[in-house]
Amino acid sequence: MTIDTLRKFVMPEVIIGDGARNRAGLYLENYGIQHLLLVTDPGVIRAGWVDEISTLAEDHGVDLTVFDGVSENPRTDEVHAGAGLYHRAGCDGILAIGGGSPMDSAKGISILATNGGDIRGYEGVDQIRQMGPPLICIPTTAGSSADVSQFAILTDQAAKRKFAIISKMIIPDISLIDPALLATLPREFVAYSGFDALTHAIEAYVSTGSSPLTDLHACEAIQLIRTALPKAYRSRDDSSAALSMMLGSLHAGLAFSNASLGLVHAMGHAISGMYNLPHGEVNSLLLPYVIRHNFPAARERYNRIATMLGLPVGKIHENGPDAIIDAIRCLGEDVGITGTLGDRGMMSSHIPDLASSAVLDPCIVTNPNIPEREEVIALYEAAL
Ligand SMILES: [Fe+2]
Repeated sequence: MTIDTLRKFVMPEVIIGDGARNRAGLYLENYGIQHLLLVTDPGVIRAGWVDEISTLAEDHGVDLTVFDGVSENPRTDEVHAGAGLYHRAGCDGILAIGGGSPMDSAKGISILATNGGDIRGYEGVDQIRQMGPPLICIPTTAGSSADVSQFAILTDQAAKRKFAIISKMIIPDISLIDPALLATLPREFVAYSGFDALTHAIEAYVSTGSSPLTDLHACEAIQLIRTALPKAYRSRDDSSAALSMMLGSLHAGLAFSNASLGLVHAMGHAISGMYNLPHGEVNSLLLPYVIRHNFPAARERYNRIATMLGLPVGKIHENGPDAIIDAIRCLGEDVGITGTLGDRGMMSSHIPDLASSAVLDPCIVTNPNIPEREEVIALYEAAL
């Protein structure tokens, strides 16, 4: 294999395994944090995880301020509120515990803590000048991989759109990945976040920014998630499935953080910006249509994905993308994801605006078959 252009690969320090969350106290000490801003959401607080971290902080003599004003699709005004609290409380470090929403919010707060200004001013690639304070992440879902990625996705509520901030400046310093935390995640979010991780792996594998390093992680992720997701969804106390999902999500995150994503995410960001729908659920419903669109441009890569999804070698050659699309839909049904985006409120009249947003999303740049706006409109209509 050759690499026709230069590639880089970045990742944070990672500790994965049972009890990883208990290392938080040690890292608070290592980073010299005296007053921590803990970013989370009300669901994580109800699950009891924030009490645990508070006790760890107290044991290490660290003051703590909790910010839980984070929506499911985190908003720019929430990031500004969190940054205001960070300054008022005199914080010098951030710990995010939760899914992608608290972690992306924490990344936004971290940017404002040292760079100031309006968070919308950092949209795009490499727009951040100064490193933020130490950022510790503890994921409670196996999906977003915000704990290892250089992406933050935020919603501009006024403009009803999502936008991406992409920079190695927002890669967390340490990710503490503990499968025990998956046990308190509502079951439907195991499915949604698991499908988000699968989409990360597939999009990274067919991305024009892929490399041998990202391929390694993408392939491992697809195989792990395919087997573990139905088990983790059905048996919430299956610790082996939980670990496989956390590992699968980690591999998918390392792949997409370095290879970027594609059309599913570009179209999905537009939808969840407008309708406030769960990101992973939207991705799961778009994925089959994007595979059909991309297939002619990345036939060999999709053939390998088919094998990783458990299809017999060569079957996809006979059937084009149909076999792989069926496999994706079966996996979705296995974890309770059925129906269409129209069933969830997407309206035909909004499709032209959604397509206009999707073609401007940075994730579209590395899609193997970059569509015209009219083709994106046709894809949304097919998925309605
Ligand atoms: Fe995603």
